[in-house]
Amino acid sequence: MDLGKLGHTCVVGLHWGDEGKGKIVDLLTEHFDIVVRYNGGGNAGHTVHVNGQKFALHLLPVGVLSPGKTATIGPGVALDLHRMLEEVSALAERGIIVGPNLKISDRSHLVMPYHKKQDLLSEAALGNSKIGTTARGIGPCYADKMLRATAIRVGDLLHPDKFREQLRRIVDLKNKTFAALYNDREPLNASEIADQYLACADRVRGNICDTTRFFFEAIQAGKRLLFEGANGALLDIDHGTFPFVTSSTTSALGVPAGAGVPASTLTSCIGVTKAYTTRVGAGPFPSELDNEIGQYIRERGHEYGTTTGRPRRCGWFDAAAAQYSTRLSGITHLAIMHLDTLSGLDRVGICTGYRAPDGPLPGFVSDGATMEQVQPVLEYLPGWKGDLRNVRSFDDLPREARHYVDRIESLVGVRIAILSVGPDRTQTLIRSI
Ligand code: GDP
Ligand code: IMO
Ligand code: MG
Repeated sequence: MDLGKLGHTCVVGLHWGDEGKGKIVDLLTEHFDIVVRYNGGGNAGHTVHVNGQKFALHLLPVGVLSPGKTATIGPGVALDLHRMLEEVSALAERGIIVGPNLKISDRSHLVMPYHKKQDLLSEAALGNSKIGTTARGIGPCYADKMLRATAIRVGDLLHPDKFREQLRRIVDLKNKTFAALYNDREPLNASEIADQYLACADRVRGNICDTTRFFFEAIQAGKRLLFEGANGALLDIDHGTFPFVTSSTTSALGVPAGAGVPASTLTSCIGVTKAYTTRVGAGPFPSELDNEIGQYIRERGHEYGTTTGRPRRCGWFDAAAAQYSTRLSGITHLAIMHLDTLSGLDRVGICTGYRAPDGPLPGFVSDGATMEQVQPVLEYLPGWKGDLRNVRSFDDLPREARHYVDRIESLVGVRIAILSVGPDRTQTLIRSI
């Protein structure tokens, strides 16, 4: 793949998140002008290792790390402004200044303190049926967006008197609801929240704009846009393992609506996946390895959540699920991450399909209840030994590792353009295809 020749491109995860999207976006950024977050919010945790430094970004697009690039938060993002500003301050302490290079859509919905509270209360009330959310207020914020009457958008911060009035009404409603539903006895204070958010607004006033117009003009001027997907395709609200999903459109389908660009904008779509599969939180995971191999992968791959620190569930590469999410997003290139992590296993498995109690399934289905019941159809390939972290060319990989990625490529049906053998930007193999 010639990175310099990519048109407007999106980077999306093909499984249940944490595939390594942050590393790929960082790698590609130098070839683009604008990096755009279009979905999710503080539930995301995108890690970048560059020049011996590690960065974990939750709300700021990865593009803020590259000088001279514009980073944009689109209308489809659930924006926790307070946390975003904490990220800005933490970067400033490390010498990275986020200033006019950040643009925030006036239409992004604000995650408010009562959203995070509602997330926690609702999960606690669900007990064993809980979704296992990141507690970042994502579901409640998007729910209020759809309800409209209880939503607050970034642009509302520009009208302080109206914002205060709006917030008084909503907080009163939330306090009553929490008391009635969850027996909550700690009402939130609307005027304290308003003070806090209006102080935040003072810091970002110059960054708020109509990003739809900004993108339109940028595309007209020949600028190149890179869309940074958050979460993973199987967490998609419509197409994932419902109800164990997040509340936004996490695939490439989310780009037009979540960013505010025409559907015809994308020319390339890079699907990111690990050489195995992980999941955080509850929900079906047919190829899960709840055994010592899963533990081996977790320890070697440092599979602990970037956002919550929770241990990630680990399993064999689910090719059937990757094929589904590849078709859904119209993936043009694959990026396979963490090949180094699988070294040392006698054999490596790939899930090629599913068997339900009443027979084989035609492929992945986006119904949590069905997927809970299936058994994976597994195929095993010989494993490989050795440290892959210093390998820089496909031909220098152990024969078994090459065979393994070739098999993934043929099962998923899309060319592998990028192979990753370590967290650092340099630990990457790019194939000319
Ligand atoms: P994202 O949410 O998709 O951006 O992924 P995360 O950042 O949450 O999780 C991916 C983790 O894997 C991060 O800690 C990365 O630094 C790390 N990582 C990415 N690629 C590789 C790789 O090829 N090998 C290893 N060992 N680690 C990697
Ligand atoms: P990145 O962008 C991994 C999961 C949560 C939970 C479900 C719902 O880093 O890949 P939510 O808080 O969104 O209501 O939680 O979705 N989840 C993620 N898992 N990576 C993510 O983002 C995730 N974003 C949400 O663990 O199971
Ligand atoms: Mg992550």
